[in-house]
Amino acid sequence: MPFCWWCFCLCCLLLKECATEHDSWNIAVSHSVVGLEGSCLDISCRFNYPGSDRKASDYKGIWLTDSNEKVFHSEASQISSTFLHRTSMLGDLHHRNCSLKINPLKNSDKGPFTFRIEIVGFNKYSFGNHKVTVTVKDAPERPTLHVEEEMKTRKKVTVTCSVLHSCPSAPPRITWNHPGKESIESKKQADDQWQLTSSLSFTTTNQDNNKVLSCTAEFTGGKKVSSNKTLNVKYPPTDVKVISRSLVTEGSSVEMNCSSDSNPAANSYKWITSNKTVVSEEQTYMMQSVNRHVEPLYCIAVNTEGESSSSLVKLSVVCE
Ligand SMILES: *[C@@H]1O[C@H](CO)[C@@H](O)[C@H](O)[C@H]1NC(C)=O
Ligand SMILES: *[C@@H]1O[C@H](CO)[C@@H](O)[C@H](O)[C@H]1NC(C)=O
Ligand SMILES: *[C@@H]1O[C@H](CO)[C@@H](O)[C@H](O)[C@H]1NC(C)=O
Ligand SMILES: *[C@@H]1O[C@H](CO)[C@@H](O)[C@H](O)[C@H]1NC(C)=O
Repeated sequence: MPFCWWCFCLCCLLLKECATEHDSWNIAVSHSVVGLEGSCLDISCRFNYPGSDRKASDYKGIWLTDSNEKVFHSEASQISSTFLHRTSMLGDLHHRNCSLKINPLKNSDKGPFTFRIEIVGFNKYSFGNHKVTVTVKDAPERPTLHVEEEMKTRKKVTVTCSVLHSCPSAPPRITWNHPGKESIESKKQADDQWQLTSSLSFTTTNQDNNKVLSCTAEFTGGKKVSSNKTLNVKYPPTDVKVISRSLVTEGSSVEMNCSSDSNPAANSYKWITSNKTVVSEEQTYMMQSVNRHVEPLYCIAVNTEGESSSSLVKLSVVCE
């Protein structure tokens, strides 16, 4: 069979193209990242080079400033005093992971920072075309607290609180001022930012109405921010009772008030005597010229969520 030189060459060419495509000096790192002063910052980084894997000790990773200060060096003694004990690699250089962690971040850590790899017995390379600049913020942004505008009592609800951060290796801690079942979720955003969301599930009670729900994010390094929202929990009238003078003189009149606790406030009332006569549909009922044989009565308070009645009230009528 004749050997196809032409095919062979084409194959070689294609393979070489592909190989160089993959194995060239390149790096994947954000151009600009945001970090929080006093907290930690993880700069995600992956690099590649046109060579085979070597043993771990053959790699020396270096992060540099434009003035050649060593932000990080695999040999700790080389690290500039400005950065000493504040920087570390997050992954393994021999797995081509050049992610850098700075903790705590200082206002002066603005970069630009350049990664340089030195591979013993192979080559050295500075990825100067892919510098990372850091914007250092003094304070974190407030968490985004999401709560339904209106809730109903005795229903399961889930509220969420999200914060942005730049340190997945030591993320902020989100806490709530309300009991419930918590779950946490982390989502990568652009430029080494992460969104951390805590969800809190609980069953509402009447007592939750008007409570200030608060979530607090505490960042590595201690900075804290919180967001608050007042809960609006709808519930039917409870604690319905008739309020009036306890002793009534025969022949006088007496004002009775149908008091209740509800959200929203009761919007209609009924006063009913024990012989089932509706005597009023106002919140207050004025009983005229009371006598000793007055029927006991109760009131009903109604709102959008339901209704409830007071207990039966018998006036104590005294003679003059
Ligand atoms: C680098 O390694 C760290 C630690 O194992 C890992 O969390 C991170 O995802 C890696 N980064 C990249 C870009 O591979
Ligand atoms: C939220 O409430 C807490 C107390 O529950 C308070 O310390 C904090 O200042 C409040 N934050 C805002 C933004 O209102
Ligand atoms: C009736 O009682 C409620 C409190 O339950 C009070 O707000 C209201 O002013 C009272 N009304 C009258 C007319 O006394
Ligand atoms: C029920 O009681 C009310 C008030 O005491 C009275 O005015 C009315 O006549 C009574 N009605 C009946 C059907 O007994």
